[in-house]
Parts: sequence; C-alpha cells; structure tokens
Amino acid sequence: MADQDARSGEDKRPTEIPALRWEEPPEGPVLVLLDQTRLPAEEVELVCTDASALVEAIRSLAVRGAPLLGIAGAYGVALAAVRGFEVEEAAAALAGARPTAVNLAVGVRRAQAAHQEALARTGDTRQAAAAALAAARTLHRQDAEASARMAAHGLALLDELLPAGGHRVLTHCNSGALVSGGEGTAFAVALAAHRSGRLRRLWVDETRPLLQGARLTAYEAARNDMAYTLLTDNAAGSLFAAGEVDAVLVGADRIAADGSVANKVGSYPLAVLARYHHVPFIVVAPVTTVDPDTPDGASIEVEQRPGYEVTEVTAPQVPVTGAGGGIPVAPLGTQAYNPAFDVTPPELVTAIVTEEGVVSPVTAEALAELCARSRQV
Ligand code: MRU
Repeated sequence: MADQDARSGEDKRPTEIPALRWEEPPEGPVLVLLDQTRLPAEEVELVCTDASALVEAIRSLAVRGAPLLGIAGAYGVALAAVRGFEVEEAAAALAGARPTAVNLAVGVRRAQAAHQEALARTGDTRQAAAAALAAARTLHRQDAEASARMAAHGLALLDELLPAGGHRVLTHCNSGALVSGGEGTAFAVALAAHRSGRLRRLWVDETRPLLQGARLTAYEAARNDMAYTLLTDNAAGSLFAAGEVDAVLVGADRIAADGSVANKVGSYPLAVLARYHHVPFIVVAPVTTVDPDTPDGASIEVEQRPGYEVTEVTAPQVPVTGAGGGIPVAPLGTQAYNPAFDVTPPELVTAIVTEEGVVSPVTAEALAELCARSRQV
C-alpha cells in the first residue's frame, strides 16, 4: 500500500534531494519515496508499506533512474522480509518491474542473497530480514560514494578533453540526485564543473515524452544555481551546428559487455550528432550498470512504454480526458512508437566514466578488465 503526503513546512534541503529513505515509524517500517511524477510542481512523498506498492511506483516512474532503481529494489526486498511477506515472490516482482536498467535486478539480487544466506545460516527470519536491510543500506551508501568518485573522474576527463575550460555541456534525461544515493552520474559531473567554476552552460534536453529533462534536471540545476538552458530534443542539432556544445554527458541504464550503452531514448541521436560535430560523447555510470551477461547492444531488452505517453500530455494540475489520464494531442486511436530507451554502439562513445576510472576507448576488453578490477575491491 502507498500513501501520499504533501511535504509541509519550509524546505530544509538546499541542494540535497533525498529521492528515497527507509523509515521505522511505530506502525512498521516503510520506504518513503519523493514522487518524481509530481515534480517540479509539487514535492509529494509516497510511502510504500509493501513491495507491491513499490513495484507500482517503479512502473509509474515515481522512483526511477538506474542507480536509484537498484537501491529501491534492494529496500523493497528488505521491506517484504521485515513485514513478513513472501520474499522470493516480492524479489521476482521487483526485479521484473522494468526490464532495461540492470541495476534494478542487481539491487534486488544483493538483498535477496543476503536474506537467503542469513536464513540458511541462522534459520531465523528476523535475522534474515535484518541482513536484507543491511545489504540495501550498504548499496545505498556505496552508490553515494561511487557518485562522488564518478564526479571527480568525469571532471578530470572534461578538463583533459577541453583544456580551454568554460565547458558547455549538453545532457539528456535526468541523472542527478534524483537517481542516486549521492549526486548522481552524468549530472554529478556537470555539478562538479559548476562548483569549480568551470561550467559555462548546462544544456538540458527536455526528454520527450515524460520530460525528465524539463521536469527533473532543470529542477536540480535550478536548486544548484547552475547556468542552464532548456531545449526541445529537436533543437539539439542546431545547437551543435552553432558550435555551442563542447561535450555531451549522459548516464546509462545498461552497458553491454561490448560497450553498447542503453540510455533514455534520444541518447543515440545525440551520439550521432556528437560524432559528426567532433564533440565528445561521454557516458557516466557506476560499475553496477555494466552487465557482463548481456553480450551486445542487440541483446538489451528495451522497455516499450504505453502509447498514451506520446499521444497525450499529462500534468497534475490540468483536467484529464484521455485514456492515460492526460490531454490528447493526437487523433483518438493513433498508434504510438514509445521505446523508453535506445542503444548507442561503443564506437560512438568517447569514454565511459565509472567510480573505478575511465574507459576510453570503449572496448569489450577494457570493460572486462574494469569489472574484474571492481570485483577485487
Ligand atoms: O525512464 P527513466 O526515467 O528511469 O530513465 C532514466 C534514464 O534513462 C537515465 O538517463 C539513466 O537511468 C541513467 S541515470 C544515472
């Protein structure tokens, strides 16, 4: 079950945006999410008391973005365990809630493995639940640490590639604190550049159809006092042509073993534009996003979302009329093509920045070496 609470009183978070947190009120443990479907209009919290509410929150994108999905998935397993639900069933439902971001399944598996191990060792369900929660907390903390390290590596790379400074960076979708235990992935690099006085402009793609750029990245950029400008996805070409983009920074939902990168639909066209205009296309993602079990881009399952996300626009404050609860912008019955992600081949990716360092050029061998190194840490 999920309850919604409007955030009341003065905002006590100047730049930090906790996208989720675990709480233990007297009625029992809950996972509290900042409902991202309501941003930027309202900061509303969604309180999940069981895994099925969390599955729904994941599907509706109330909680989203690859690293955060991993953290949420791990807490979801803990929630099921602590509240005495069937853990294996909850884990399967959580892991299958969205198919593309590998972090979701990774997070679920980590908490599930901790639960299974403790149960086998102690035979005690309370200790097993505590182990699942500890695994979720560890993943949450590790993601925050990884985020800080990615920001440092990414900024060093930007400075190396663009020694003149005054970086003008284009980003797509949302990859900041709203997707992370820390300050995010690609956005965290732009934020680090901003803090060190080296970001001249953050170009923010609006990111049709669900507007994660306009609603979420612009929200984060504004909160951090960054110089940012919003553009329609279609305007990116003319921006490159005008010589206004020095680098593209995006996150990733899954990186295949060959270096193919699945990210929010619209990333691939940016990579093509970047190559044509000799601009670096940089992917920033934690090592957990690299999936050695997915051999190549063609093997990545791309989530197909409902057509009404394209044929209607939704906003909480306007009256609803369409089948998806929004205002129709296409004739009734129009079919829509609505993949949530696209896949950029490795040859178009200048570098992949992770917490363990930078991979460039992007090759299967270099990624395998990175994964091996991170397993040893
Ligand atoms: O559908 P979403 O909003 O979950 O998609 C998110 C993205 O595509 C992000 O760019 C990606 O998860 C990387 S963020 C670190």
